[in-house]
Amino acid sequence: MQRTLILLKPDCIQRRLIGDIIGRFERKGLRLVGLKFVQASQDLAEKHYAVHKGKPFYDSLLKFLTSGPTVALVWEGREAVATARGLMGPTDGTKAPPATIRGDFAISVQNNLVHGSDSVENAAAEIALWFKPEELVNWTPADAAWVTGG
Ligand code: RTP
Ligand code: MG
Repeated sequence: MQRTLILLKPDCIQRRLIGDIIGRFERKGLRLVGLKFVQASQDLAEKHYAVHKGKPFYDSLLKFLTSGPTVALVWEGREAVATARGLMGPTDGTKAPPATIRGDFAISVQNNLVHGSDSVENAAAEIALWFKPEELVNWTPADAAWVTGG
């Protein structure tokens, strides 16, 4: 089982898409283990996107991520990192195929609604950045055997 960090970025909240987009991850069969509504500080945004420091879009990206509230989520499941990235689609909404989150709801490169960890290692670091260990909940959904199979 893997865990991944998903952020519903400020455009998702402003556009009232929280329910629709959380539903995509829920219906896939991923298990929610953490959820919080956060106004990201400059410091948190800088740490989260440290890998992009120095790139032309970095300042704009930090301004975007701190421009309003974000929903931070941790999802658990088989191949959760790649599974979540698949549900999201590629970065540029205009290139994201239909039936992905970005493909269905985004036409921007920056304002693309969701963030998802891109590796198991980065997922662990990002989860630790956004959540305290005691904020993550271990539980077994009633349908776990049906979702997991064999
Ligand atoms: P994320 O990290 O948010 O899940 O997105 P990603 O892996 O698909 O894309 P990444 O290359 O990591 O870029 C991080 C976020 O920066 C914004 N961006 N703007 N203007 C630009 O050229 C540009 N490129 C990237 C997007 O919000 C992207 O999700
Ligand atoms: Mg990324």
